Order: sequence, then C-alpha cells, then structure tokens
Amino acid sequence: MRLMSDKGGLEGIVVARSELCSIDGQKGILVYRGYDIRDLAEHASYEEVVYLLLRGELPTAAELDSFRTELAEARTVSGEAAQVIDLIAADAAPMEMLRTAVSATSFDDPDKDSNDEDANQRKALRLVAKIPTLIGRYQRRREGKEPVDPDPELDYATNFLAMLRGELPAREEARTFDVAMILHADHEMNASTFTARVIASTLSDMHSAVVGAIGALKGPLHGGANEQVMKTLEAVGSVERVDEDVRRRLAEHRRIMGFGHRVYKTMDPRAAILKQHARALSEHADDSEPNWYEMSSRMEEIVLAEKGLYPNVDFYSASTYHYLGIPTDVFTTLFVASRVVGWAAHVIEQHRDNRLIRPNSEYVGPARRAYPIGSLGS
Ligand code: CMC
Repeated sequence: MRLMSDKGGLEGIVVARSELCSIDGQKGILVYRGYDIRDLAEHASYEEVVYLLLRGELPTAAELDSFRTELAEARTVSGEAAQVIDLIAADAAPMEMLRTAVSATSFDDPDKDSNDEDANQRKALRLVAKIPTLIGRYQRRREGKEPVDPDPELDYATNFLAMLRGELPAREEARTFDVAMILHADHEMNASTFTARVIASTLSDMHSAVVGAIGALKGPLHGGANEQVMKTLEAVGSVERVDEDVRRRLAEHRRIMGFGHRVYKTMDPRAAILKQHARALSEHADDSEPNWYEMSSRMEEIVLAEKGLYPNVDFYSASTYHYLGIPTDVFTTLFVASRVVGWAAHVIEQHRDNRLIRPNSEYVGPARRAYPIGSLGS
C-alpha cells in the first residue's frame, strides 16, 4: 500500500481523471476544457461558461440563446425551499441558510431519484438557476424587505445583483460580477469538489453532493477566506497601517487570509483579473471609506516581500464584492453560486464512470491488545 506523504493533506496525489479543468501552478495558468480563464473572463459570459462546463463545448449563438432562456425560466423558487428561507432568515448565517435551502430544493425536484446523465443535467441547470434566488430572497428577508422576484429578461449577473441589492446594477458592475462568477466556476480537485465527487461515488444524488460541497467550501481555508479577507482589511483600517499590521500577524504566526495556495506557486490568475476589477471599482468608490484597493495592493506587496506568498482568488474578490455593495457575510455564498456548476459537472463525470472512492488510512494507534476482562468496571 502506498503511504501518505509526510505533509498529509493528499498533496500531489491524483485522485480522479477529469476533462473539466487544469491548472499549471508554476506558470499561473488555469483552463476550463482547454480555454484559458483570461480569455473566458474577457470574452465569455457566466452562462456560456456554465454551458461549456456542463455540455462540453462552448455554445453557438442559438444554443446560448435557448440555454439562457432555460436558465432564466428555472430561477423561480417556491414551495418548501422558499418557506425554509422565510423561516430561518432572521437566525441563520448566510452559509447555514444556503446549506439548508439548497437541500430543500431537492424535495420537489422531479429528477431527484435519478442519477442518469439527462436527469443530472437538468438538476445542474436548476441548481445554477435557483441558488441566486435563494441568496437574494434570504438577504431581502433578513433586511425585513420583500424579496425581489427573478426577472427572466435580465442576464444572470444583472438579475442576481438586482435580487440581492433591490436595484438594478450599473452595466460595469454587472460585468464585474459576471467575471467573478466565471473565475470561481471550477478549480480542479479543490476540497469541496473532492467532497462532491466522494459523495457522488457512493451513487448518492446531485443535491447531496452539492450540500456536502457547500459544507467543505464554508471553511476559512477554502471559500470562507473571502469573508475573512474583508474582515482583515476592516481591522487594518488604512493603507498606512498595512505594513505594521501584516508584520505583526506574521510574527504571531497567524495566517494572512487570501494568500497562499496548495497548487499555485505564483500569482493566481484569477486574483490578477479581480485585482483589475477592484482597481476600476475603487475609482468610483465612496470617499468616506478607506481605499480598500490600495490597502489590498500594499498588502500584496508586503506579504510577498515578507513571506513569499501570492494572493489567491479570495483576496481581490473581497474588495470587489465590497465595492459592489454586497455584505461581507454573504461573500462565500457567491462562491457557492458560481462553483455549483463545477461541482455539478464533476458529479456528472463521476456518475458517468463511477467507482466508489474509498481510500485507506495508515493505522498509528496501539498494537492489538487483550480486552481487560474484570477490570475498569466492566
Ligand atoms: N499566511 C501565512 N502563512 C501561510 C499562509 C498564509 N496565508 N499560507 C501558507 N502559509 C505558510 C504556513 O504557515 C506554512 O509555513 P511553515 O512551513 O513555516 O509552517 C507554509 O506556508 C505551508 O502552509 P500549508 O498550510 O502547509 O500549505 P497548504 O498548501 O496546505 O496551504 C492554504 C494552502 C490555502 C490552506 C494556505 O495557503 C492558507 O491557509 N491560506 C489562507 C487561507 C486562504 O486564503 N484560503 C483560500 C485558498 S484559495 C481559494 C479557495 O480554495 O477558496
């Protein structure tokens, strides 16, 4: 049996074959089905990327048109999932809400009992379409406001921001948000995707795999980092305080959220793209707040100089989402909204050619020994 590496964490271990996504961690290159993320972020829409990941190729104009219509028509959330949100909005944190509400969307899903490819494709499309509506409804309810119904005339990003904020975003804001969704859509064998594949490998269903993946994404070492980045920026408070604060955190052996990566040993290409968007948004930002972009940029310089670590996707997504008027504790749910397509595509791959994922552990406990009959009160 091959034993785990000293460092643990399955570092460097290949656990699946996939056609979806590949990363060159030395060069900082990320591709979805052969397309460079930089090209997709510049030229594609999130809907196109969803089509690419789920169906295997980029859509033609006609295919995209009808796919957009299908997605838009599936946005409505009713029944138990809507009731669950209304019931828990005041008490549940955003990721708790989403973990619970996504689970509730399976109750009335007509394909819930099938793992066939066609059924999985339909469930994937519904999940991609409905998650923004769940998040928007929750946010409005906890603000004590009426939910904004999804508008099938609007594209994915514009509709999402409109449901979340209660007003139509500017065109540039919607484009930035769409780019953020594109950048988070898939990322090879990250912890939440691995979780989804493990669940799917037991021949459990799409919704169960996605709910498990949400649990994995929630942690601060994974998707939860974007929220922590914003909290760090707020705690630092000004560009002038960045150097001292970062040095102190490092001296105390604390992790700087949004930096470092298991695979990238250079700048995460997603961070580079989001950095440009954060800078553009900062130019029109409210003067009464600190300049989050400048703070982030200085933090990037100092963490690289002091620790040799580069920013990952969660670093510049924090200031980007903040500039878009999104509450900090909602950030990680946006990661779910985007990444659900990656999870779903991996579940489809897993179900297509399944073998139970069941590794081993190396036993390091006591050697076999006799049960102490008559002692220890038994
Ligand atoms: N701040 C300070 N030190 C760090 C950081 C950081 N952000 N990241 C790694 N290190 C240090 C770590 O302390 C260790 O140092 P030493 O060898 O002296 O003990 C060394 O680098 C290796 O750390 P590791 O935890 O073994 O490395 P890993 O490959 O498991 O780390 C990571 C990957 C993402 C968990 C880690 O870089 C980290 O904790 N980053 C902060 C959380 C974060 O931003 N997560 C988002 C990840 S990317 C997008 C996503 O998945 O959501």
